[in-house]
Order: sequence, then C-alpha cells, then structure tokens
Amino acid sequence: MTAIATEPAPMPHLLGIDDLDTAQVVRILDTAEQLLPIATRERNTVPTLRGKVVCNLFLEDSTRTRISFDLAAKRLSAEVLNFSAKGSSVSKGESFKDTALTLDAMGVDCVVVRSGSSGAPLQLARYLDVPILNAGDGWHQHPTQALLDVFTMRRHLGDLAGRHVVIVGDLLHSRVARSEVQALTLLGAKVSVVAPPTLLPPQVEGWGVELVADLDEVLPDVDVVYLLRVQRERMHRAFFPSSREYSRLWGMDARRLALLGEQAIVMHPGPMNRGVEISGEVADSDRAVITEQVTNGIAVRMACLYLLLAARGGSDAEEAR
Ligand code: ASP
Ligand code: CP
Repeated sequence: MTAIATEPAPMPHLLGIDDLDTAQVVRILDTAEQLLPIATRERNTVPTLRGKVVCNLFLEDSTRTRISFDLAAKRLSAEVLNFSAKGSSVSKGESFKDTALTLDAMGVDCVVVRSGSSGAPLQLARYLDVPILNAGDGWHQHPTQALLDVFTMRRHLGDLAGRHVVIVGDLLHSRVARSEVQALTLLGAKVSVVAPPTLLPPQVEGWGVELVADLDEVLPDVDVVYLLRVQRERMHRAFFPSSREYSRLWGMDARRLALLGEQAIVMHPGPMNRGVEISGEVADSDRAVITEQVTNGIAVRMACLYLLLAARGGSDAEEAR
C-alpha cells in the first residue's frame, strides 16, 4: 500500500464508538488525514481494495452516509453493491437473517448497514463472517458520523484535549449524540449538553457530560456548538410546544452566533431543519462547517474501510504486489 503509511489494524467490525479505545480513534483519524487528498480528488483513486466487494445495506433512508460510503469504497477501488429495502425482497417480507445469508452467499467482503433497529449491525456480525460497519442503527450508534465530526474538529482546533463542545437539542432520539459523546470523551474533550427536558435521555447523568440549562450562558465558553436535528419521525407525542418555541429556546440564530468566541465553529450532522434547530443565516455563515463535515466523511469512511478490510488481505492489489 503506497498511499497510506498506517498499517491496517485487525479491527473485526465497527459497530459503535464503545468498541474503540483512544489509540484506535487516533489511528482512524490519522489514516483519514492521509486519505483526504484522494477523497477530495486532488489525487486519483488507489488500488488498495481492488477485488473486494463492499455491500451497502441501507434499510433506513440516508443521503450523506450512503453516498459517502459508496464514494469511499470506489476511491479505494472496491466493487460496490447498493442495496435498499425499497426495491428488494425485504419489501416482500424476507427476514433480516435471510437477507444477510443471501449477501453471504453472494460472497461480499464487507457490509455497511443502516437500520432503524438498534442492534441490527451486531446481529449481522453474528450471521456473517465479514467486517460489519454500522452506518447508523436506531437510537443506538452512528460511529462514522462521530469519527468524521471529531476529524473535522481536529482539523479546525488541533488536539481536542481540553476543548469544550456543547451538544444541543434532541438527545433522546439521537444515535449521533451517543457516539459523539463517547468519541469526544476518548479524545479528552469536555462535553456539555443543552436540551428541552423532555428530550434528555433518562441515562444522560451517566454519560459524563455537564448538563446546562441555558444555551446563551455556555456559548461564550465553547469551541464547538454541535446542533442535533429535531427527529420528528421518532416522536410519537409532543415533546415541546411548537417549532417557534424550540428555535427561541434551543435554536442557533444570528444573535446566538454573536455570543461565540472568535474561533468557535458550528456543526450539524445533517439533514438540517432550517428555521428550527439552526437558522438559515447560521447554516450559511462562515462559522458553519457542515459541508466540510460531509467532505471529510468520505476520507474517514475510506479509513474505516481500509482498516477493516485491508488487514484481512486477499485484495487484487495486494496479490499483485
Ligand atoms: N443523519 C443522522 C442520522 O442518521 C442525523 C439525523 O438524521 O438527524 O442519525
Ligand atoms: N448525517 C447523516 O447520517 O446523514 P444521512 O442520514 O443523510 O445519511
């Protein structure tokens, strides 16, 4: 492997940030740093995963994660199979297990899975003997989102030890928040959270974060404001009076932007509800690094695929060496 100096680590799967230690997170970020020129097309593709078949199994909607995994695998010269529930035999009632066994019988080398059910990637890892990458499962984990976020923060702020990140909004339904807090904690950052009381998970006290009541109070002190989407598709009752009330109390707008320190950045995993958790003005401001997060996601996912797959050997590129 000529383009990547990092030796692949034998990570069996990437199911959640809780599977990783600090050294593994740093290794993924450092590998992604080397791959960024390829991800952003400053350089051509590399043959690292030629001969490998990556299957993107998306059983829940996605724009960014799905396209980004697709591109990441292609930049590494893997073959990519894109599979979604719509248009497949899942819509005829085929079970998750039978779908998994069918993929196995096709000889895929790796499965990237997004599912509305927490634990689906773990279940898949029990059915198949290939690396499984979690692309978001239920309310549980979204590890590559957290990794691309800390990668983006690190590029702006340097070492994250001692940096202060506030996560704002719908923590209750957020797999991103769960992964994000774990990744930031592994890297030594201080994490605060601000949310409507109805949207705080009951176990949040055990997350090792500081609970803050008033967003305005914490803004002057933070390096990063991380806004979460109000996840209406997961809400089966009213959690706050109205969108207007939500944006007044917990939304990031131009007035709040002015409270931030000079170097502070604004992040959002996407998709955004403009006018609810983030105003259009903030989303389009030069403090927001939301499109950068998307670009960095390709490099981070390339790094994850590389570290999971290249270590197992057997790619054409490797055999040709
Ligand atoms: N796209 C992210 C996820 O799938 C965040 C969100 O949807 O709010 O978890
Ligand atoms: N951030 C994120 O996971 O976006 P998608 O749901 O569009 O993949």
